Amino acid sequence: MYSEPPSSKHRPTLQNPGSGEGRSEPVYISDDTGYALSHFLLPSHYQLDLERVLIPAGFILDRIEKLAHDIKTFYGDQDLHVLCILKGSRGFFNHLLSYLNKIHMYGRPYATSPPYMEHYVRLRSYVGTDSSGQLEVIAEDLSILKNKHVLIVEDIIDTGNTLTKFCDYLRAIGPKSIGIASLLEKRTDKSNGFRGDFVGFSCPDAFVVGFSLDYNEMFRDLEHLCIINDQAKQRYSSKRR
Ligand code: HPA
Ligand code: MG
Repeated sequence: MYSEPPSSKHRPTLQNPGSGEGRSEPVYISDDTGYALSHFLLPSHYQLDLERVLIPAGFILDRIEKLAHDIKTFYGDQDLHVLCILKGSRGFFNHLLSYLNKIHMYGRPYATSPPYMEHYVRLRSYVGTDSSGQLEVIAEDLSILKNKHVLIVEDIIDTGNTLTKFCDYLRAIGPKSIGIASLLEKRTDKSNGFRGDFVGFSCPDAFVVGFSLDYNEMFRDLEHLCIINDQAKQRYSSKRR
């Protein structure tokens, strides 16, 4: 169903989204990793809400640069359609594309086409009375992705349920391949086994925020990835924001 990207160096194909087949493993952030809040400059409006800094922003940027390099090595000069899953992926997506731009400018000075075409999607999962759940996809007309190499850009793979459903949705459009880039992958018992292809970090089973990831729309403006405390979960428990 999918054709193999010809420049594939470190893996055979992206035929099976969610398998993570042949991927390079993410950076492992152990369960006890973390940095004292006092070591970083943090927004004062969150001073009562955070437990610890999990991954400082500088480290995240270094890792995204390497992911951009891996992605470029994998896809080469083939047309690539990158798909941002809003809102949480905004930070990852923006930095990833910025690195791809630089690789393209420095490494392909005579290129005649842009490094990617970009698309934006908002996904909502509804868990109904049955366990199947429904996925709402808010997007431009995605039929343009037929016969294209598509790279989904996600902030975090947690249970994997939303991405599993979205990959089924995309597959029906008939892209040439579906790859998954995710900044984070959570080590959780609730995982359905879904694995990304280009993953930044494997992180502990805690609620992480910052770098555009939210808790009920809060913390997107926090630059470092942090773990929130129980008080913050109570304080921002309302979804209406
Ligand atoms: N943080 C933010 N958003 C999320 C998380 C998380 O840990 N898991 C799933 N969505
Ligand atoms: Mg969210």
